[in-house]
Amino acid sequence: MKILGIETSCDETAVAVAEDGVHVLGNAIASSAEMHGLIGGVVPEVAAREQLKAILPVIDLAMAQAKTDWNAIDAIAVTNGPGLISSLLVGVNVAATLAYIHKKPLIPIHHIAGHIYANFLDGAAPVSFPFLVLTVSGGHNELILVRDHFDFQKIGETIDDAAGEAFDKVARLLGLGYPGGPPISKWAEKGNPKAFDFPRSHLDPNHRFDFSFSGLKTAVMRAIVGARHALPLPNGAMTDAVKADLAASFQQAVVDILSDKLADAAREYDVSIVHLAGGVSANRLLRQEVRKKLPPDVALCSPQNLKYCTDNGAMIAGAGYFFSQKYPLPNNSWSTIRANANLEFPIYNFH
Ligand code: KG4
Ligand code: ZN
Repeated sequence: MKILGIETSCDETAVAVAEDGVHVLGNAIASSAEMHGLIGGVVPEVAAREQLKAILPVIDLAMAQAKTDWNAIDAIAVTNGPGLISSLLVGVNVAATLAYIHKKPLIPIHHIAGHIYANFLDGAAPVSFPFLVLTVSGGHNELILVRDHFDFQKIGETIDDAAGEAFDKVARLLGLGYPGGPPISKWAEKGNPKAFDFPRSHLDPNHRFDFSFSGLKTAVMRAIVGARHALPLPNGAMTDAVKADLAASFQQAVVDILSDKLADAAREYDVSIVHLAGGVSANRLLRQEVRKKLPPDVALCSPQNLKYCTDNGAMIAGAGYFFSQKYPLPNNSWSTIRANANLEFPIYNFH
C-alpha cells in the first residue's frame, strides 16, 4: 500500500511516498531554514508563504522519485497539528484538495506520532511493542510508552522549554545561527564539557519524568555575560575557546538530563526496547550517553538516517499506513480534517 505523506508543521515543506509504512520510495524536502538562519528563528508568515510556493513542486518531486502516479497512491497522510497554524493550513488544505480530486482517504497524523514512526523507516527498528520513546525536538520533549500502534501513554513532558528549543536559544546567544543543534554539537567537540557547571534540573518526585530547561538556559546566558566581562577583549567579544567550552558544557547538561530520565523510566516501566525520536535524536552524544545508561539487554533504536530525525514527509507516510490499518477511513474523510496548532497528545481515543 502506497501512501503520500505531507509535513508542513514548521519551516519545512516535506513530502514522501512510502510503501507499507516502512519502505521509502521518494522523499523530497524544501526548507526555509537558511532564510530563517539569517533572522535567528522562524517567522510564521514567512515560512507559510515559502511553503505555498514549494508544496506543489515538492509533491511532484517525491512522486517522480517514487516513479509513481496518482492511480498507484492509496491514501494521503498529512500532519494536522501541532505546529504553526499558517504552515499547517498549507499542508492540510493542499492535502485535502488532492484527496478530494483524486478520491483518496485523507489520514490526519499528529506530528509527534509521525516522529515515533520515523524509527521504523527503512528497517531501522523492528515494528515491535511495547517500547518507551523519548520524543525530543524543537517544539516537543516527551516520554511516551507505546503499547501498540497508536496506543500511546504520555508519562512525562517538559514543563517549560523543549531541549531543541534550548539548543536553538543558546546557539542564538552564541551567534551560531538557526537551527542550533548541529552547530552547538560541532563547537562542543572542541570544548571542555566540565568547564561550566550548569544546573541539571531533575525536578521533584511528582515530576520525576518531566523535564525543565529554562533554568539551564538562564544559567548559560549568565555565564556568557560573565565570560564577556572576564575576557580582556574589545566590545565583550567571545573567544573561540570559551564559546566551545560553553557549547560543550551546555550540551552535556542537556544530555545528562535527557539520558538520566529516559534510563530511569525504562527501568520503572520495565521495557526491553527504547527509542529516540525527533530532531535532537540526531545528537551523537545523546545516543552514546543513553546507550551507556541503559541495561545492555535493552535495545536502543533511533532513525536509520539523520534526515528522518528532523521533520520529513516519510514519517507521516509511515504513520499514515499503520493508522489506516487500524482505523480505515473513507474517501471523503478530507471534509472532516482540520489543522489544529494545539492538537493534544494523544488524540487516538478510539478504544
Ligand atoms: O523534529 P524537528 O525537525 O522539528 C520539530 O518538530 O521541532 O527538530 C528540530 C530541532 C531543532 O531545535 C534543532 O536545533 C534540533 O532539532 N537538532 C539538534 C540536532 N539536530 C537538530 N539538537 C541537538 N543536536 C543535533 N545534532
Ligand atoms: Zn518535528
